[in-house]
Amino acid sequence: MVRVVFVLTLVHFGFVNGQIYDVLKFGAKGDGTTDDSKAFVEAWKAMCSSGGSNKTLLIPSDNTFLLQPLVFQGPCNSPSVQVQLEGKIVAPLNKAAWSDLESCEWVSFNKIIGLTVLGSGTINGRGSSFWEANMPTSKHPTQLHFEGCNNLEINGITSFDSPRNHISIHDCRQVKITQIKLIAPGDSPNTDGIDISTSIDVEIYDTIVGTGDDCIALNNGSININITRMQCGPGHGISVGSLGKDGEESMVENVQVTNCTFNETNNGARIKTWPNGKGYARNIVFKDITLTETKNPIIIDQQYMDKGRIDVEESSAVAISNVTFTNFHGTSRQDEIIKIDCSEVTSCKDIVLDRIDITTVDGKKPIVECSNAYGHSTNAYDCCLKTQ
Ligand SMILES: *[C@@H]1O[C@H](CO)[C@@H](O)[C@H](O)[C@H]1NC(C)=O
Ligand SMILES: *[C@@H]1O[C@H](CO)[C@@H](O)[C@H](O)[C@H]1NC(C)=O
Ligand SMILES: *[C@@H]1O[C@H](CO)[C@@H](O)[C@H](O)[C@H]1NC(C)=O
Ligand SMILES: *[C@@H]1O[C@H](CO)[C@@H](O)[C@H](O)[C@H]1NC(C)=O
Ligand SMILES: *[C@@H]1O[C@H](CO)[C@@H](O)[C@H](O)[C@H]1NC(C)=O
Ligand SMILES: *[C@@H]1O[C@H](CO)[C@@H](O)[C@H](O)[C@H]1NC(C)=O
Repeated sequence: MVRVVFVLTLVHFGFVNGQIYDVLKFGAKGDGTTDDSKAFVEAWKAMCSSGGSNKTLLIPSDNTFLLQPLVFQGPCNSPSVQVQLEGKIVAPLNKAAWSDLESCEWVSFNKIIGLTVLGSGTINGRGSSFWEANMPTSKHPTQLHFEGCNNLEINGITSFDSPRNHISIHDCRQVKITQIKLIAPGDSPNTDGIDISTSIDVEIYDTIVGTGDDCIALNNGSININITRMQCGPGHGISVGSLGKDGEESMVENVQVTNCTFNETNNGARIKTWPNGKGYARNIVFKDITLTETKNPIIIDQQYMDKGRIDVEESSAVAISNVTFTNFHGTSRQDEIIKIDCSEVTSCKDIVLDRIDITTVDGKKPIVECSNAYGHSTNAYDCCLKTQ
C-alpha cells in the first residue's frame, strides 16, 4: 500500500518522466479560460525544492494557459532550472478580470540562480485594455520581470502586447537574451521591449523588438551591456536612460550596441537625461547601425522630460563622456540627423562621430546640431563638436 502511494506520488510529480515537471500534471487545464496560476506555482515549487540539476518546468504546446499575476520564487535547491515554454500563456481577457491590479508585474521570477527560460511558445499580456484605460502608465504591469536572477538565459520565446514593458531585468548578473521577439502595436503607450537596471554583464543578440516604445532602455546601474543584431521598430530606438530624474544619481557604463537596424523608429541611438540629475553615462559605443526612415537617428538629450519641457534652473547633470557613434547608414525622416544637446553644467566630453552616412527622406541637406559637446568627427560634422 505504502509502495503504491509512493509510486503514484512519483508519477504525480513527474519524476518518472526524468526531470520534467509538466504543468498539466499539476492540475493545469490549458483551456485558455481556467485560471492555471495555482498549478504553475505548484509545479514550480515541486521543481524548485527538489535537488539535483537539469530540472525543467514544462509548459507544453497545443495548450493555452491563462495566468493571473504570479511569482516564481527562488532560491531553488537545484543550481540550474529551466522553464520551457512551448504552449501559449495568456493574461486575463481584460483589465477588469485581473485578480490583482496593484501588482506591478504579471509573471515574475525572483532570486533564481541559473534560470533558463526557453522555447518556441508565446506569452500574451492582452494589454490593450490597459493602454486605453484612464490610469498612469506607470501603474500598468510589466509582462516578465526578472529580479535577483544571476546566470539568467532567455531564448526563443515571443512576447505580445504587454500592458507595460515586456521584460524587465533588475539586479541580475550574467544575463544572456537571444532570439526572442517582442511585439506590440506601434502606438501602444509605455511598452518598452527590455528595461535593464542595476545589472552587470548582459548580452542581447539576434532579437526582434517592435513594441512602440524603447526597444531597450538602459537605466541606472546598467554595466557591461552588449546588444548585437537587434531589429528594432516600430518604437523609440535603443536608449540609455532616462537617467537622473528628480535629481537622482544614476550610472550607466560600458555599453556596446553593434550591428542593429532601426526601422521607422522615432529615435535610433539615444541618450536621455533629466536636468539636475547626478552620476554619469560613459564608455558607450553605437556601431554598424542601419536606419530606415528613422526620425532622430542620433540623439543626446540632456533636457529630457517625459511630458515636454519646462524651463528649469540647471545646477547639475548626469555627466556624459566617451560616446562613439560609428558607421551609421540609411535614411532619416527629419532633416536633423544628429542632435547632441548637452548640459551647460557638465558638457559632453569625448563624443565621436565617425562614418555617419545618413540621407534625408525628402532629399534635403542633413542638419547636425550640437551644444556644449566636445569631441571629434571624421565626417564633415567637425564643426558641430568643439575640440578640447
Ligand atoms: C536534461 O533533461 C532533459 C529532459 O529530461 C534531457 O533531454 C537532457 O538530456 C538533460 N541534459 C543533461 C545535460 O542532463
Ligand atoms: C561585450 O563585448 C566586448 C567586446 O566585443 C567583450 O569584451 C565583452 O566581454 C562583452 N561583454 C559581455 C557582457 O558580453
Ligand atoms: C543607482 O544604482 C546604484 C547601484 O547600481 C544604487 O546604489 C543607487 O541607489 C541607484 N540610484 C537610484 C536613484 O536608484
Ligand atoms: C550583422 O548582422 C547580419 C544579420 O543581421 C549578419 O549577416 C552580419 O554578418 C553581421 N555583421 C557583423 C559584423 O556581425
Ligand atoms: C520596415 O517595416 C515595414 C513595415 O512597417 C516593412 O514593410 C519594411 O519592409 C521594413 N523595412 C526594412 C528595411 O526592414
Ligand atoms: C571609451 O569607451 C570604450 C568602449 O566602452 C572603451 O573601450 C574605452 O576604454 C573607453 N575609453 C576611456 C578613455 O575610458
